[in-house]
Amino acid sequence: MAPQTFKIASIPADGVGKEVVAAGRRVLDVLAEQSGGRFAFEWEEFPWGCGYYEQTGKMMADDGLDTLKAFDAIYFGAVGWENVPDHISLWGLRLNITQNFDQWANVRPVKFLPGVQSPLRKADDTELDWVVVRENSEGEYAGLGGRNLSGRGPGNEVALQTALFTEKGCERIMRFAFDLARTRTVKKVSSVTKSNAQQYGMVLWDDVFKRVSLDYPDVATESVLVDAMSAKFILHPEDLSVVVASNLNADILSDLGSALAGSLGVAASANLNPERRFPSMFEPVHGSAPDIAGQGISNPIGAIASAALMLDHFGLHDEARRVEAAIEAATASGALTRDIGGSSDTAAVTEAIVHALQTALTPA
Ligand SMILES: NC(=O)c1ccc[n+]([C@@H]2O[C@H](COP(=O)([O-])OP(=O)(O)OC[C@H]3O[C@@H](n4cnc5c(N)ncnc54)[C@H](O)[C@@H]3O)[C@@H](O)[C@H]2O)c1
Repeated sequence: MAPQTFKIASIPADGVGKEVVAAGRRVLDVLAEQSGGRFAFEWEEFPWGCGYYEQTGKMMADDGLDTLKAFDAIYFGAVGWENVPDHISLWGLRLNITQNFDQWANVRPVKFLPGVQSPLRKADDTELDWVVVRENSEGEYAGLGGRNLSGRGPGNEVALQTALFTEKGCERIMRFAFDLARTRTVKKVSSVTKSNAQQYGMVLWDDVFKRVSLDYPDVATESVLVDAMSAKFILHPEDLSVVVASNLNADILSDLGSALAGSLGVAASANLNPERRFPSMFEPVHGSAPDIAGQGISNPIGAIASAALMLDHFGLHDEARRVEAAIEAATASGALTRDIGGSSDTAAVTEAIVHALQTALTPA
């Protein structure tokens, strides 16, 4: 039988993005080899990013979005380098893809790994496992607004950055969060806003949350203000299962979650177009880490765990669990990069994960 072939566009982009995408590809290729011809990955790598900008004045090819449409998924590294202002590099590549491909659900699991010391005291004796669901298409990152009045001279410019909340946008991300909660042991959704201060968009969010929750009587709910939620991440993380929040709030909270789990370097993420009209994109949460790029010491776990989310998206659920178990086996055995208290380099951690895959051929 011909193998089921998944076409993946890889965009390592900048800095450690290149190192961690190579690590994720290595792990996926080992899985494909082990599948005995059941499935295969067909990769095409694109050179887009700040280096490409240096040569062309663009972050990606003009027909880049059209080219990407032909793929089953996009595997992304991280974008950003000192030669390009951050808002240009981010909007020119990553947000260009997430916005145009309507990847409106951003799933960011917060996973605590064996052998990785958390700054959170509770992590020692409490089972902690939650997932941040980020509205990924509107909210504070809608890109609406403008800069004006600079003609009045220095010191007089004004800027508007408008957050967009649509009832449809709120409803679809909330239904996504409730559906996800139903698949988890703890069936609970925590909605996060700042609706006491932001009385239009976020009150609409609260109203939609109340309405949608009526369709899920089996799922517990709570509404928490973002400042209180950041305290709760630290003081009562055991209360969390699915946390749904707007683009900016979820961006910040998921970084807090991954820092609690030990490092930004272990955090995975999926940018999903749940209707599958466009390819979805899988990437570590972290950025291009210019402070450590090129040294071969970046943590590949966030990228490899993102590859596991991509496997789930392909319907390869057993393989996704095997990759997650291999990551846990590797960290438990002490294969840790510096950011999580070890001294292994990127290659050694990747090989420890590959070794765990090769020695445990069945799901944990
Ligand atoms: N999704 C993305 O592409 C994305 C996300 C965030 C930031 N950025 C961009 O990345 C650049 C750097 O931003 P930043 O410094 O704010 O965030 P960053 O995530 O790149 O780095 C923050 C800190 O985390 C560490 N870190 C990040 N990834 C790591 C890994 N895999 N292993 C070990 N340590 C890791 C870095 O060394 C640094 O100390 C900027 O240009 C920014 O715009 C891109």
